[in-house]
Amino acid sequence: MNGNRLIFATGNPNKIREVHELLEGIFEVGGLQDIGCPFDLPETSPTIEGNAQQKARYVFENYGVDCFSEDTGLEIEALNGEPGVNSAHFAGEGRNAQDNMDLVLRKMAGEANRKARFYTVIALILNGEEHLFEGIAEGTIRHVPSGIGGFGYDPIFQPNGFEHTFAELTKQEKNEISHRGQAVRKLVKFLTSLNH
Ligand code: IMP
Repeated sequence: MNGNRLIFATGNPNKIREVHELLEGIFEVGGLQDIGCPFDLPETSPTIEGNAQQKARYVFENYGVDCFSEDTGLEIEALNGEPGVNSAHFAGEGRNAQDNMDLVLRKMAGEANRKARFYTVIALILNGEEHLFEGIAEGTIRHVPSGIGGFGYDPIFQPNGFEHTFAELTKQEKNEISHRGQAVRKLVKFLTSLNH
């Protein structure tokens, strides 16, 4: 690792906040601004894995630094896996998280099968080699949004084994069980194993 620093290839401040909390004191994580890279990274793959790889490869190929990126999708069983890789722009370009949630709830109106999962892939490029780490959080889609924490689809996602949505949990509680938390812990385990 260059000077023990990894660049997190994302422009999403919510992801930066969550991931920094998980890596604090373990690794020094830099952002795209530290290498003068624009925040809009290419994300044109038809899969979550592909988008994670594409963003990390872009940064490595153009800036030559060790880096990782992350891509996440909400996969709803009754919607055949939608919004999936289109989670960010489900309601259309320029629409926000509220629009995306509203569209999910409209499409799920009258649907009894509420099963859904968040799927995250982290792509790490270290010394030119690529490694992938996955995280999955299983749960259900609520009928009505609830909670103000988290971001994105959190107010309508209730993780299995909980009676609250992700948006009603504390940051620490969400990190302990979330898709992103799981993938980051696998990343940490891999990186720490290299030092032993
Ligand atoms: P992307 O990985 O940046 O493409 O984000 C995909 C979409 O999923 C965005 O609309 C995010 O707001 C949403 N999203 C990503 N992670 C989470 C999460 O942990 N909770 C809720 N929504 C999320």
